[in-house]
Amino acid sequence: MNKLKPIFSFIVILILMVIIGSIWNANVSARDNPQDIGPVSRGAQIYDDWTSVVSGAAIPVGDHPIWSRQSYNTISGIDTWRCVVCHGWDYQGIDGAFRTGSYSTGFPGLLEASSKDKSTLVKALDGSSDAQHNFTSMLSEDDIASVIAFLQTGLIDDNEYIDIITRKVSGGDLANGKEKYQQACASCHGDDGKLATFRYEGTEVSLGTLAVQDPWRFLHRTRFGTARAPEMPLGYELGWTAEDGRDVVYYVQSSLPTGFEITDNGGMEIEPVSNLGGPAQNWFSGIVTAFGAMATSLGFAILLGAFFIGIILLLVWLLRSRQA
Ligand code: HEC
Ligand code: HEC
Repeated sequence: MNKLKPIFSFIVILILMVIIGSIWNANVSARDNPQDIGPVSRGAQIYDDWTSVVSGAAIPVGDHPIWSRQSYNTISGIDTWRCVVCHGWDYQGIDGAFRTGSYSTGFPGLLEASSKDKSTLVKALDGSSDAQHNFTSMLSEDDIASVIAFLQTGLIDDNEYIDIITRKVSGGDLANGKEKYQQACASCHGDDGKLATFRYEGTEVSLGTLAVQDPWRFLHRTRFGTARAPEMPLGYELGWTAEDGRDVVYYVQSSLPTGFEITDNGGMEIEPVSNLGGPAQNWFSGIVTAFGAMATSLGFAILLGAFFIGIILLLVWLLRSRQA
């Protein structure tokens, strides 16, 4: 039996290694952000809602000073400081989806500005061009550089493909959209897009509904993510083309339940976008995602464990056959 002692300590050490390994692995996958994003995606998320992306940002009180230059849009407070609220999910401001309706502001789009050089864009954001358009007390130099990288390389003009009235993507590659959706999205959002819901215009909506109500927000967040879902894979980081993004919206609009199916009978009208829907208050999808992440690492730990147990069994067997 004495001869067996080193073998047993070896086995105990192996088991400890497996346990420690799985704990370490679980920790890493919970913290390790697959969305280890580059400046363009980060800039896009700052554009969406810097107030929830920039850690420790000074959150201003009241409305943005420029907000009072318009009176169509009646939202107030912190949302009025978000780039997207003034410039639009389609980056076209007054010329795009925001040209009418309660969400319109009359403020300019940024497609033209996107071809300007960096120093001009810095001047647009540091108050040099317009003293009230100064974000330097809220965004660091790095944040501003990211948002500029996004403006210069991330803006996509989809409005040639999206009907501004019906908000439908006019065609595309349905099979490609389906494949991309099932590969990259269905695990969290479900085959029907209903697994997680989002706050939109005061109600909880599924992915299908959002795709019809606001394909632009859908596209922006599918490509670049949202602060609410740090674990979500991003189209931009996956190397998707502009068409890939539109194909996914096209698929979601036309094949998943949207709640707007009645439109085909010539019935229901789509309400104009009035609430830009700040980050959704959805703890449920957060939990689902957390479990997803845990399951992934657990699956890996089990595999690893099985592997080590296999080795142990092999060792024991070898030992026994030597003794015999
Ligand atoms: C309250 C509304 C509002 C918000 C919020 C806002 N902008 Fe603007 N932005 C404007 C208006 C209006 C202009 C037109 C020029 C001016 O008066 O400053 C403008 C101009 C610009 C320009 C220059 C456009 C050009 O053609 O030269 C850029 C770039 C820009 N904004 C980017 C941003 C970014 C990035 C953010 C978020 C960090 C942001 N804006 C937030 C209203 C807003
Ligand atoms: C790892 C899980 C996960 C995967 C995979 C995933 N998502 Fe998400 N997604 C989330 C979570 C969590 C949210 C945020 C829910 C909330 O707002 O509370 C979210 C939010 C979104 C939103 C923003 C909704 C809004 O409020 O505007 C869109 C759009 C979206 N996802 C589309 C997609 C698409 C398209 C794919 C496939 C490329 C995808 N997601 C893959 C977890 C995921």
